[in-house]
Amino acid sequence: MSTQSSERLAADFAADVRRDLALVPKQLQSKYLYDALGSSLFEAICRLPWYRITRAEQRLLEAHAPAVVERITRDPETVPLIVELGCGSGEKIVILAEALQAAGRHGRVHLIDISRQALEQSERTLGRLRHISVVGHRDTYEVGLRRAAQQREAGSPVLVLLLGSNIGNFDAPAAGEFLRAIRGALVPGDALLLGADLVKTEDALRLAYDDPLGVTAAFNRNLLVRINRELGATFDLDGFRHVAVWNAEHSRVEMHLESLRAQTVRIDGWAVAFAEGERIWTESSYKYEPADIDQMGARAGFSTAAQWIDEDVRFALTLFAAA
Ligand SMILES: C[S@@+](CC[C@H](N)C(=O)[O-])C[C@H]1O[C@@H](n2cnc3c(N)ncnc32)[C@H](O)[C@@H]1O
Repeated sequence: MSTQSSERLAADFAADVRRDLALVPKQLQSKYLYDALGSSLFEAICRLPWYRITRAEQRLLEAHAPAVVERITRDPETVPLIVELGCGSGEKIVILAEALQAAGRHGRVHLIDISRQALEQSERTLGRLRHISVVGHRDTYEVGLRRAAQQREAGSPVLVLLLGSNIGNFDAPAAGEFLRAIRGALVPGDALLLGADLVKTEDALRLAYDDPLGVTAAFNRNLLVRINRELGATFDLDGFRHVAVWNAEHSRVEMHLESLRAQTVRIDGWAVAFAEGERIWTESSYKYEPADIDQMGARAGFSTAAQWIDEDVRFALTLFAAA
Protein backbone atom coordinates (compact mmCIF):
# COMPACT_ATOMS: atom_id res chain seq x y z
CA MET A 1 0.00 0.00 0.00
CA SER A 2 1.27 3.48 -0.83
CA THR A 3 2.30 5.91 1.92
CA GLN A 4 -0.21 8.29 0.35
CA SER A 5 -3.17 5.91 0.96
CA SER A 6 -1.92 5.16 4.45
CA GLU A 7 -1.72 8.86 5.31
CA ARG A 8 -5.17 9.50 3.80
CA LEU A 9 -6.72 6.65 5.87
CA ALA A 10 -5.09 8.02 9.05
CA ALA A 11 -6.30 11.57 8.32
CA ASP A 12 -9.83 10.29 7.55
CA PHE A 13 -9.86 8.34 10.84
CA ALA A 14 -8.98 11.45 12.86
CA ALA A 15 -11.51 13.63 11.01
CA ASP A 16 -14.32 11.03 11.16
CA VAL A 17 -13.86 10.42 14.90
CA ARG A 18 -14.05 14.14 15.56
CA ARG A 19 -17.14 14.62 13.38
CA ASP A 20 -19.01 11.50 14.49
CA LEU A 21 -18.52 12.03 18.24
CA ALA A 22 -20.17 15.43 17.79
CA LEU A 23 -23.34 13.81 16.34
CA VAL A 24 -26.43 13.11 18.40
CA PRO A 25 -26.42 10.22 19.16
CA LYS A 26 -22.63 9.87 19.15
CA GLN A 27 -21.32 7.42 16.56
CA LEU A 28 -18.13 5.78 15.30
CA GLN A 29 -17.95 4.03 11.94
CA SER A 30 -17.69 0.24 12.12
CA LYS A 31 -14.86 0.08 9.58
CA TYR A 32 -12.61 1.53 12.31
CA LEU A 33 -13.11 -1.55 14.53
CA TYR A 34 -10.49 -3.34 12.40
CA ASP A 35 -7.01 -2.38 13.52
CA ALA A 36 -4.58 -5.31 13.99
CA LEU A 37 -6.08 -6.36 17.34
CA GLY A 38 -9.64 -5.74 16.06
CA SER A 39 -9.04 -8.07 13.10
CA SER A 40 -7.64 -10.77 15.42
CA LEU A 41 -10.62 -10.39 17.75
CA PHE A 42 -13.00 -10.65 14.78
CA GLU A 43 -11.32 -13.90 13.77
CA ALA A 44 -11.79 -15.16 17.33
CA ILE A 45 -15.49 -14.18 17.12
CA CYS A 46 -15.79 -16.31 13.97
CA ARG A 47 -14.65 -19.31 15.99
CA LEU A 48 -17.13 -18.78 18.84
CA PRO A 49 -19.89 -21.38 19.10
CA TRP A 50 -22.48 -18.56 19.20
CA TYR A 51 -21.32 -16.78 16.00
CA ARG A 52 -22.48 -19.41 13.56
CA ILE A 53 -22.67 -17.45 10.32
CA THR A 54 -19.00 -17.88 9.33
CA ARG A 55 -19.24 -21.66 9.43
CA ALA A 56 -22.63 -21.61 7.67
CA GLU A 57 -21.28 -19.45 4.85
CA GLN A 58 -18.20 -21.65 4.52
CA ARG A 59 -20.45 -24.71 4.18
CA LEU A 60 -22.51 -22.98 1.49
CA LEU A 61 -19.34 -21.98 -0.35
CA GLU A 62 -17.92 -25.53 -0.19
CA ALA A 63 -21.17 -26.89 -1.61
CA HIS A 64 -21.68 -24.30 -4.37
CA ALA A 65 -18.20 -23.06 -5.36
CA PRO A 66 -18.20 -25.24 -8.52
CA ALA A 67 -21.47 -23.59 -9.71
CA VAL A 68 -20.07 -20.12 -9.01
CA VAL A 69 -16.80 -20.91 -10.80
CA GLU A 70 -18.69 -22.36 -13.77
CA ARG A 71 -20.25 -18.94 -14.43
CA ILE A 72 -16.89 -17.22 -14.82
CA THR A 73 -15.06 -19.96 -16.73
CA ARG A 74 -17.34 -20.46 -19.71
CA ASP A 75 -14.79 -19.04 -22.14
CA PRO A 76 -11.66 -21.23 -21.97
CA GLU A 77 -9.50 -18.41 -23.35
CA THR A 78 -10.09 -15.92 -20.53
CA VAL A 79 -8.56 -15.53 -17.06
CA PRO A 80 -11.31 -14.54 -14.60
CA LEU A 81 -10.78 -11.77 -12.06
CA ILE A 82 -12.14 -12.25 -8.53
CA VAL A 83 -12.40 -9.11 -6.38
CA GLU A 84 -13.18 -9.53 -2.68
CA LEU A 85 -14.44 -6.51 -0.74
CA GLY A 86 -13.54 -6.80 2.96
CA CYS A 87 -11.73 -10.14 2.66
CA GLY A 88 -10.85 -10.56 6.36
CA SER A 89 -8.62 -13.60 6.84
CA GLY A 90 -9.19 -14.90 3.28
CA GLU A 91 -10.57 -18.24 4.46
CA LYS A 92 -13.63 -17.92 2.22
CA ILE A 93 -12.07 -16.79 -1.07
CA VAL A 94 -9.64 -19.69 -0.81
CA ILE A 95 -12.61 -22.07 -1.19
CA LEU A 96 -13.46 -20.45 -4.55
CA ALA A 97 -9.80 -20.33 -5.60
CA GLU A 98 -9.52 -24.06 -4.95
CA ALA A 99 -12.65 -24.70 -7.02
CA LEU A 100 -11.05 -22.68 -9.83
CA GLN A 101 -7.95 -24.84 -9.53
CA ALA A 102 -10.09 -27.99 -9.57
CA ALA A 103 -11.63 -26.72 -12.83
CA GLY A 104 -8.08 -26.51 -14.23
CA ARG A 105 -8.16 -22.72 -14.55
CA HIS A 106 -5.95 -19.81 -13.62
CA GLY A 107 -7.30 -16.67 -11.98
CA ARG A 108 -6.44 -13.16 -10.87
CA VAL A 109 -7.50 -12.00 -7.42
CA HIS A 110 -7.76 -8.46 -6.02
CA LEU A 111 -8.23 -8.28 -2.25
CA ILE A 112 -9.59 -5.11 -0.68
CA ASP A 113 -9.59 -4.48 3.05
CA ILE A 114 -9.11 -1.44 5.25
CA SER A 115 -7.20 -3.61 7.75
CA ARG A 116 -3.52 -4.17 6.98
CA GLN A 117 -3.48 -7.28 9.15
CA ALA A 118 -6.49 -8.82 7.36
CA LEU A 119 -5.01 -8.08 3.97
CA GLU A 120 -1.63 -9.57 4.81
CA GLN A 121 -3.25 -12.67 6.22
CA SER A 122 -5.43 -13.16 3.11
CA GLU A 123 -2.41 -12.68 0.89
CA ARG A 124 -0.60 -15.38 2.86
CA THR A 125 -3.65 -17.71 2.73
CA LEU A 126 -3.86 -17.40 -1.06
CA GLY A 127 -0.08 -17.29 -1.58
CA ARG A 128 0.18 -21.08 -1.52
CA LEU A 129 -2.04 -21.43 -4.62
CA ARG A 130 0.16 -21.41 -7.71
CA HIS A 131 -2.61 -20.85 -10.27
CA ILE A 132 -3.68 -17.51 -8.74
CA SER A 133 -2.03 -14.10 -8.91
CA VAL A 134 -2.92 -11.84 -5.99
CA VAL A 135 -2.99 -8.03 -5.67
CA GLY A 136 -3.91 -6.43 -2.32
CA HIS A 137 -5.41 -2.97 -1.81
CA ARG A 138 -5.39 -1.67 1.76
CA ASP A 139 -8.20 0.79 1.31
CA THR A 140 -11.92 1.40 1.63
CA TYR A 141 -14.33 -0.67 -0.46
CA GLU A 142 -15.03 2.25 -2.79
CA VAL A 143 -11.41 3.17 -3.55
CA GLY A 144 -10.29 -0.49 -3.75
CA LEU A 145 -13.13 -1.40 -6.11
CA ARG A 146 -12.27 1.51 -8.41
CA ARG A 147 -8.61 0.47 -8.49
CA ALA A 148 -9.41 -3.20 -9.13
CA ALA A 149 -11.92 -2.34 -11.89
CA GLN A 150 -9.30 -0.20 -13.64
CA GLN A 151 -7.14 -3.31 -13.93
CA ARG A 152 -9.72 -5.61 -15.51
CA GLU A 153 -8.77 -7.20 -18.81
CA ALA A 154 -11.28 -6.59 -21.60
CA GLY A 155 -13.35 -9.72 -22.22
CA SER A 156 -12.39 -11.46 -18.95
CA PRO A 157 -15.27 -12.04 -16.53
CA VAL A 158 -15.23 -10.44 -13.08
CA LEU A 159 -16.71 -11.94 -9.91
CA VAL A 160 -17.10 -9.58 -6.94
CA LEU A 161 -17.35 -11.19 -3.49
CA LEU A 162 -19.09 -9.41 -0.62
CA LEU A 163 -19.23 -12.06 2.09
CA GLY A 164 -19.68 -12.34 5.85
CA SER A 165 -22.77 -10.09 5.70
CA ASN A 166 -20.50 -7.05 5.23
CA ILE A 167 -23.49 -5.53 3.39
CA GLY A 168 -25.38 -5.56 6.72
CA ASN A 169 -23.19 -2.74 8.08
CA PHE A 170 -24.92 -0.34 5.65
CA ASP A 171 -28.39 1.10 6.18
CA ALA A 172 -30.83 0.59 3.28
CA PRO A 173 -30.00 3.76 1.29
CA ALA A 174 -26.24 3.27 1.69
CA ALA A 175 -26.51 -0.46 0.83
CA GLY A 176 -28.42 0.49 -2.35
CA GLU A 177 -25.78 3.03 -3.29
CA PHE A 178 -22.97 0.57 -2.59
CA LEU A 179 -24.57 -2.19 -4.69
CA ARG A 180 -25.11 0.31 -7.54
CA ALA A 181 -21.41 1.26 -7.33
CA ILE A 182 -20.49 -2.44 -7.60
CA ARG A 183 -22.88 -2.87 -10.54
CA GLY A 184 -21.38 0.24 -12.15
CA ALA A 185 -17.94 -1.39 -12.09
CA LEU A 186 -19.28 -4.53 -13.83
CA VAL A 187 -20.49 -5.43 -17.32
CA PRO A 188 -23.04 -8.05 -18.44
CA GLY A 189 -21.52 -11.49 -17.90
CA ASP A 190 -19.93 -10.45 -14.59
CA ALA A 191 -21.30 -11.56 -11.23
CA LEU A 192 -21.61 -10.64 -7.56
CA LEU A 193 -21.66 -13.25 -4.79
CA LEU A 194 -23.32 -11.75 -1.71
CA GLY A 195 -23.40 -13.41 1.71
CA ALA A 196 -26.11 -11.94 3.93
CA ASP A 197 -27.39 -12.88 7.37
CA LEU A 198 -31.11 -13.57 7.80
CA VAL A 199 -33.49 -12.59 10.59
CA LYS A 200 -33.40 -15.19 13.35
CA THR A 201 -34.51 -15.49 16.97
CA GLU A 202 -33.62 -12.62 19.26
CA ASP A 203 -31.88 -15.07 21.56
CA ALA A 204 -29.58 -16.33 18.79
CA LEU A 205 -28.78 -12.74 17.78
CA ARG A 206 -28.05 -11.67 21.34
CA LEU A 207 -25.60 -14.55 21.87
CA ALA A 208 -23.88 -13.82 18.54
CA TYR A 209 -23.29 -10.14 19.42
CA ASP A 210 -22.84 -10.36 23.20
CA ASP A 211 -21.14 -13.69 23.74
CA PRO A 212 -20.64 -15.22 27.19
CA LEU A 213 -16.81 -15.11 26.78
CA GLY A 214 -16.82 -11.36 26.23
CA VAL A 215 -14.90 -11.52 22.94
CA THR A 216 -17.40 -9.31 21.08
CA ALA A 217 -17.29 -6.87 23.98
CA ALA A 218 -13.48 -6.74 23.67
CA PHE A 219 -13.79 -6.24 19.89
CA ASN A 220 -16.11 -3.27 20.46
CA ARG A 221 -14.17 -1.71 23.37
CA ASN A 222 -10.90 -2.07 21.43
CA LEU A 223 -12.08 0.85 19.30
CA LEU A 224 -11.48 3.09 22.32
CA VAL A 225 -8.01 1.55 22.79
CA ARG A 226 -7.31 2.36 19.15
CA ILE A 227 -8.47 5.97 19.51
CA ASN A 228 -6.30 6.35 22.62
CA ARG A 229 -3.25 4.97 20.80
CA GLU A 230 -3.64 6.59 17.39
CA LEU A 231 -5.27 9.90 18.34
CA GLY A 232 -3.78 10.46 21.79
CA ALA A 233 -7.17 10.20 23.55
CA THR A 234 -7.87 9.55 27.24
CA PHE A 235 -10.76 7.04 27.13
CA ASP A 236 -10.89 5.11 30.43
CA LEU A 237 -11.76 1.55 29.41
CA ASP A 238 -13.44 0.91 32.75
CA GLY A 239 -15.78 3.81 32.04
CA PHE A 240 -17.53 2.15 29.05
CA ARG A 241 -19.43 -1.11 28.59
CA HIS A 242 -20.40 -3.05 25.49
CA VAL A 243 -24.11 -3.10 24.66
CA ALA A 244 -25.75 -5.12 21.86
CA VAL A 245 -29.46 -4.61 21.11
CA TRP A 246 -31.84 -6.08 18.55
CA ASN A 247 -33.79 -3.24 16.93
CA ALA A 248 -36.76 -5.16 15.51
CA GLU A 249 -38.30 -2.08 13.89
CA HIS A 250 -35.21 -1.60 11.71
CA SER A 251 -34.25 -5.29 11.56
CA ARG A 252 -30.72 -4.68 12.82
CA VAL A 253 -28.45 -5.57 15.71
CA GLU A 254 -26.82 -2.43 17.06
CA MET A 255 -23.55 -2.37 18.99
CA HIS A 256 -22.95 0.53 21.34
CA LEU A 257 -20.41 1.62 23.93
CA GLU A 258 -22.20 2.98 26.97
CA SER A 259 -20.64 5.49 29.36
CA LEU A 260 -20.94 4.21 32.93
CA ARG A 261 -20.70 7.70 34.44
CA ALA A 262 -20.62 11.36 33.50
CA GLN A 263 -17.11 11.95 32.15
CA THR A 264 -15.04 14.05 29.77
CA VAL A 265 -12.59 12.51 27.33
CA ARG A 266 -9.75 14.47 25.71
CA ILE A 267 -8.84 13.61 22.14
CA ASP A 268 -5.79 15.37 20.80
CA GLY A 269 -6.57 18.80 22.24
CA TRP A 270 -10.39 18.72 22.12
CA ALA A 271 -12.88 17.41 24.65
CA VAL A 272 -15.99 15.21 24.45
CA ALA A 273 -18.44 15.13 27.34
CA PHE A 274 -20.48 12.00 28.12
CA ALA A 275 -23.53 11.83 30.37
CA GLU A 276 -24.02 8.69 32.47
CA GLY A 277 -25.70 6.09 30.24
CA GLU A 278 -24.89 7.97 27.03
CA ARG A 279 -23.94 5.68 24.15
CA ILE A 280 -21.64 5.69 21.13
CA TRP A 281 -23.23 3.70 18.29
CA THR A 282 -20.37 1.68 16.78
CA GLU A 283 -21.96 -0.85 14.41
CA SER A 284 -25.22 -1.87 12.76
CA SER A 285 -25.73 -5.38 11.41
CA TYR A 286 -28.91 -5.49 9.33
CA LYS A 287 -30.69 -8.85 9.03
CA TYR A 288 -32.74 -9.77 5.98
CA GLU A 289 -35.41 -12.04 4.56
CA PRO A 290 -34.32 -13.86 1.37
CA ALA A 291 -36.72 -11.80 -0.78
CA ASP A 292 -35.21 -8.53 0.56
CA ILE A 293 -31.85 -9.64 -0.81
CA ASP A 294 -33.27 -10.35 -4.30
CA GLN A 295 -34.97 -6.97 -4.30
CA MET A 296 -31.87 -5.12 -3.13
CA GLY A 297 -29.92 -6.70 -6.00
CA ALA A 298 -32.65 -6.03 -8.57
CA ARG A 299 -32.84 -2.35 -7.61
CA ALA A 300 -29.08 -2.08 -8.22
CA GLY A 301 -29.31 -3.69 -11.70
CA PHE A 302 -28.59 -7.35 -10.87
CA SER A 303 -30.67 -10.46 -11.54
CA THR A 304 -30.61 -13.39 -9.13
CA ALA A 305 -28.89 -16.37 -10.73
CA ALA A 306 -29.06 -18.56 -7.62
CA GLN A 307 -29.75 -18.30 -3.93
CA TRP A 308 -28.56 -20.90 -1.45
CA ILE A 309 -29.80 -20.83 2.13
CA ASP A 310 -28.57 -22.49 5.31
CA GLU A 311 -31.95 -22.95 7.00
CA ASP A 312 -30.46 -24.06 10.31
CA VAL A 313 -28.33 -20.95 10.89
CA ARG A 314 -30.45 -18.74 8.57
CA PHE A 315 -27.81 -17.35 6.24
CA ALA A 316 -28.13 -16.72 2.49
CA LEU A 317 -25.55 -16.79 -0.27
CA THR A 318 -26.89 -15.12 -3.39
CA LEU A 319 -25.26 -15.22 -6.82
CA PHE A 320 -26.24 -12.14 -8.81
CA ALA A 321 -25.63 -11.70 -12.52
CA ALA A 322 -24.88 -8.22 -13.82
CA ALA A 323 -27.97 -7.91 -16.03
C1 LIG B 1 -17.16 -8.55 9.28
S1 LIG B 1 -15.52 -8.70 8.65
C2 LIG B 1 -15.82 -9.96 7.43
C3 LIG B 1 -14.58 -10.55 6.84
C4 LIG B 1 -14.83 -11.61 5.78
N1 LIG B 1 -15.54 -11.07 4.63
C5 LIG B 1 -15.62 -12.76 6.36
O1 LIG B 1 -16.66 -13.07 5.79
O2 LIG B 1 -15.19 -13.37 7.35
C6 LIG B 1 -15.39 -7.23 7.66
C7 LIG B 1 -14.04 -7.05 6.97
O3 LIG B 1 -14.18 -5.95 6.07
C8 LIG B 1 -13.23 -4.93 6.37
N2 LIG B 1 -13.95 -3.66 6.22
C9 LIG B 1 -14.99 -3.20 6.96
N3 LIG B 1 -15.44 -2.03 6.47
C10 LIG B 1 -14.66 -1.73 5.40
C11 LIG B 1 -14.63 -0.67 4.46
N4 LIG B 1 -15.52 0.33 4.54
N5 LIG B 1 -13.71 -0.69 3.48
C12 LIG B 1 -12.80 -1.72 3.40
N6 LIG B 1 -12.78 -2.76 4.26
C13 LIG B 1 -13.69 -2.78 5.24
C14 LIG B 1 -12.76 -5.20 7.78
O4 LIG B 1 -11.43 -4.76 7.98
C15 LIG B 1 -12.91 -6.72 7.91
O5 LIG B 1 -11.73 -7.39 7.55
